[in-house]
Amino acid sequence: MKAFVPSALFLVALHLISATVRAGGLPVEAYGLSFQYYQESCPNFEAIVSRKVKEWIKKDYTLAPALMRLHFHDCVVRGCDASILLNYPGSERSAAESKTLRGFEVINDIKVALEKSCPKMASCADILTSAARDATVLAGGPFWMVPYGRKDGRVSVAKEASKVPVGHENVTSLLQLFQSQGLNVLDLVVLSGAHTIGRSTCGSIQSRLYNYKSTGKPDPTLNREYGNYLKRKCRWASEYVYLDGRTPKTFDNMYYKNLQKKMGLLSTDQYLNSDSRTGPLVSALATQPELFNYQFGVSMAKLGNVQVLTGDEGEVRTNCNAVNRY
Ligand code: HEM
Ligand SMILES: *[C@@H]1O[C@H](CO)[C@@H](O)[C@H](O)[C@H]1NC(C)=O
Repeated sequence: MKAFVPSALFLVALHLISATVRAGGLPVEAYGLSFQYYQESCPNFEAIVSRKVKEWIKKDYTLAPALMRLHFHDCVVRGCDASILLNYPGSERSAAESKTLRGFEVINDIKVALEKSCPKMASCADILTSAARDATVLAGGPFWMVPYGRKDGRVSVAKEASKVPVGHENVTSLLQLFQSQGLNVLDLVVLSGAHTIGRSTCGSIQSRLYNYKSTGKPDPTLNREYGNYLKRKCRWASEYVYLDGRTPKTFDNMYYKNLQKKMGLLSTDQYLNSDSRTGPLVSALATQPELFNYQFGVSMAKLGNVQVLTGDEGEVRTNCNAVNRY
């Protein structure tokens, strides 16, 4: 792995940012998690997850962004408790917000391997968190240490999936959502940078192209050429466009440079550039790729600790798609 050598400019920026917002999370023990959690009970946990994620992504690269998004959707609703994986009518997974989620088969495949290696030990919530980290690394993003010990929730309610933002929320409500999870404005701007890879259905941006806020016109904050390109690509709401129109398959800071050129795909992406609370962070991240890379790992680690169940809470599912019968 390439050593991370922070530049002077980077350190100045990091200092400025941490002075204005409280950067970093609590020590992992405060969440009830531990870096040694599987040392005795499932020593090959990370090796198995990593091998499987690599196999799947090698076959289908688009599973890398899919796994990262799946983890985010899980953590937003009832914390990182694998509630998104429960599969029955009326569960989160059956909600409209979950319609284009993918990667479930990867988690199931990992679970089968882990049940063979260390039965009833590895939680689905830990598997999903670990797989999202490995997917990030394989996409070209940073590595971070994941603490383990999450338990799986027994509750999943479709209506609660409406907490997940769908792309036209304003910055105030995005900040409120993040703050309710213990995440701050820096985490919001940095984690939105996950949209440097992956894709969106045209349905999520249709109103920006033709009839923005019932004006009968395209969104004025959308670059005109890019807007015309999107109109050509988006004949049907079910078609896909890349979230990063310029380097869609590379994990880099182009997402932020796009925002500065009015080339953010979702309204929520573009708002980050113009809002006074988030705009300065967009500028910092657009000019400093190392800052984005480093902080993405820090913020993802925080995301993975959101409202986790530990100890006697929840259970370790034997099948990630259903609560245990016993
Ligand atoms: C901040 C608020 C966020 C909003 C409003 C948002 C919204 C969206 C939307 C609308 C899509 C496209 C869905 C579709 O039409 O199929 C999407 C895709 C995606 N999101 Fe987000 N998202 C947010 C935060 C995050 C975070 C925190 C992460 C991960 C850390 C993330 C990772 C992704 C990825 C990787 C994709 C592409 C998925 C794929 O290619 O299969 N998003 N997001
Ligand atoms: C942001 O969105 C929320 C929820 O839709 C709404 O109540 C609020 O008035 C909006 N705030 C601004 C500043 O537009």
